[in-house]
This record gives sequence, structure tokens and C-alpha cells, in this order.
Amino acid sequence: MHLLILNGPNLNLLGTREPEVYGAGSLADLERDLRNAFPGLTLSFFQSNHEGALVDRLHAAHDEGLDGVVFNPGAYTHTSVALRDAIAGTGLRVVEVHLSNVQAREPFRHLSLVAPVCVGTIAGLGRRGYGLAVRYFVEG
Ligand code: DQA
Repeated sequence: MHLLILNGPNLNLLGTREPEVYGAGSLADLERDLRNAFPGLTLSFFQSNHEGALVDRLHAAHDEGLDGVVFNPGAYTHTSVALRDAIAGTGLRVVEVHLSNVQAREPFRHLSLVAPVCVGTIAGLGRRGYGLAVRYFVEG
């Protein structure tokens, strides 16, 4: 099984960015922990601060025949019709993940434009959410 772990804007700052909200570990730590937790899987990782680069990576994931995507779109969650359309247009199976509990934060974070085209959403469980989303794909 080949999965893509896709992270959007500002998630490259994990560890230094508002650690009380997003945790103390870096994105590299998160990637290493996932590889260690799922040694039998092929995991690809991609992070970008650019909306179009994320759209292109979703298209490529479809072309590569990936089995699923664990996607934290960051702030684009709340704004991006383009990412929503990329998920819908490719038909990729995507689990939306947020480190923080977006429903418990500012009202502008309550709406996700991608949620309706995702399989499901995990929010508020910190970095454990990524591993739980991977398990969803593994367990079928
Ligand atoms: C986030 C929540 C978003 O509202 C925010 O813009 C982020 C991170 C999260 O993982 O909790 O960048 O996606």
C-alpha cells in the first residue's frame, strides 16, 4: 500500500509555530515517527506553502495510483475551492487531518471546504491523528 502524507501552508514550521496549539515536534519528527510506525507501507511525504503545488501533488498522486492521502491542508482548509475540486476531480480517497480541534477555535476555522469530498476528518488529536488516518487505510 502506498499512501501520501500531504501537508499545507505553515506546517513546515511545526515545532516552533505556536507549540501550545500544534505541539513541540517538527514535521521531520512526524514523518520519521510515521515511517517507524508503519514499516510495511510505502509512505510519500510532501509539504508546500503554495496552493497550486498541493493541487499538482494531488493530481500526481492520482496518476501514480496511490491508495490514499492523509491531508492537512492548513489554512487552505477554510478557503480553497481549488483543493476541494482537486480531491473531487481525481476521486482520490482522502482523510482530512488537523492537529488542533478546529471546531473549538475561531469561527473562521469551523468551515472546511474539503470535508465534503473527504472520506472523513480527524481533528484535535495532535500528531496522533496522522497515524490514526494511516490506520484507517491499512485496516480498509
Ligand atoms: C490546522 C488548522 C488550520 O485552521 C490552521 O490554519 C493550520 C493548521 C491544524 O492542523 O490544526 O495551519 O490545519
